[in-house]
Amino acid sequence: LDKVQRPTLVWLNFQDCTGDTEALLRAANPTVGELVLDILSIDYHETIMAAAGHQAEAALEKTVKEYKGKYLCVVEGSIPLKDGGVYGCIGGKTFQQIARHVCGNAAATIAVGTCASYGGIAAAVPNPSGAVGVREAVPGATILNLPGCPCNADNLTAVVVHFLTFGKLPAMDSHGRPLFAHGKRIHDNCERRPHFDAGQYVESWGDDAHRKGFCLYKMGCKGPATFHNCPTQRFNEKVSWPVAAGHGCVGCSEPQFWDTSPLYRR
Ligand code: SF4
Ligand code: F3S
Repeated sequence: LDKVQRPTLVWLNFQDCTGDTEALLRAANPTVGELVLDILSIDYHETIMAAAGHQAEAALEKTVKEYKGKYLCVVEGSIPLKDGGVYGCIGGKTFQQIARHVCGNAAATIAVGTCASYGGIAAAVPNPSGAVGVREAVPGATILNLPGCPCNADNLTAVVVHFLTFGKLPAMDSHGRPLFAHGKRIHDNCERRPHFDAGQYVESWGDDAHRKGFCLYKMGCKGPATFHNCPTQRFNEKVSWPVAAGHGCVGCSEPQFWDTSPLYRR
């Protein structure tokens, strides 16, 4: 059994904060250890691979050639297109050239985090580098978006396991997001919803209503306009999620949330 070839995955980092890699390290079902050692062959990941420089680039190229049309690609971070893409380069190639080559030859690509999905914080007004998500930079490739800031690692492992089991990506919504994770509105599954229905709102941070766990709508919570499974899947082995922590939802899995969230005023 240990001679069976594990499915190959490459992970590309572009304009990012590595938050989605950090999220992956906290995956619970399966854990990152199980993913790396038992389930997948992760042939390229700049943060966790031992190789560097030419050796790392050779490993990526070898994978693209040997497993053309068969490997999975994960992209973290946005892709700058302004001025020919010069604001993001690795080994003399622009991020867009790398993405077109690697995503274009993959069986499927998973764009993790809001930056890879829609451009994210780099694309916030005035978007100085002309940042876009992978779908816009690599038109025609098979791409699923897994937005969030960061994405929920359990949703990522679920997409990978779905692909390995059924040989295709799960059903998606109009933003290219998997319906199993983005098919329901946060507001409809929120534990503070009874307070919303009863008209019990937090009016200022730290007030009595905040301490009692009342609804955060008047504090700018975007739960009524955000589609994500945060209230049910939660984070870090289901320990908590933003609304439970008392912050409110900023709509981090919706396009252009950096420009539209009332919690982040320029
Ligand atoms: Fe809806 Fe946000 Fe209030 Fe929860 S805290 S009920 S998501 S408005
Ligand atoms: Fe993001 Fe809102 Fe979930 S801020 S993590 S979509 S609760």
